[in-house]
Amino acid sequence: MKKPKRDAGHTAGLSRRRFMDSVAILAATTTTGEAATQTAATTTETATVKTVLNVNGRSHALQVEPRWTLQYVLRDQLGLTGTKCGCERGECGSCTVLVNGVARYSCMTLAVEAEGAEITTIEGLMHGEELGPVQQAFVEEDAFQCGYCAPGQVMSVEAMLRKTPDPSMEQIQEGVSGNLCRCGAYAHIFKAAQRAATYRKS
Ligand code: FES
Ligand code: FES
Repeated sequence: MKKPKRDAGHTAGLSRRRFMDSVAILAATTTTGEAATQTAATTTETATVKTVLNVNGRSHALQVEPRWTLQYVLRDQLGLTGTKCGCERGECGSCTVLVNGVARYSCMTLAVEAEGAEITTIEGLMHGEELGPVQQAFVEEDAFQCGYCAPGQVMSVEAMLRKTPDPSMEQIQEGVSGNLCRCGAYAHIFKAAQRAATYRKS
């Protein structure tokens, strides 16, 4: 698996924009002077729209660009960095959050699409200062090595247990099948899911 790029959602998004802006400005300044420069200036303006996102039970009124992903808004606008960014193209699952209780890749979801939905991130599974049952089970089963995939794995297990409170091993494996672990901690992740199921029942 490709090495995860830390903060790729933020830096990749900005670098693309800056690259495009730079290309526009370069084209303008090397062609027809002032008029072209005005064209370049226009391209740097970005339109935003008002969006209200309900995240972890709190409502956030935001100005967002329509192209922004939910992952970018969660991490870089709301500071919820528990949601990770491994690939930014729907391959690794490290960005998994719940949208209306269903596991979704936040890198493949536009922020404006999520308006009106109930969004839950890894931070939203906490019970005050206490870990939630799935988080606690991951700690107790040592279900990570580097830990980068762990928030996404936890969210997928949470979604799976909400739908299937007493899962078989096959259902557990299917539940986290959209989440890759480059460290190969799968056996521990599966055990953590089993333990979490018992915690949620008690
Ligand atoms: S960051 Fe890899 S699936 Fe979203
Ligand atoms: S990627 Fe390192 S623990 Fe899963």
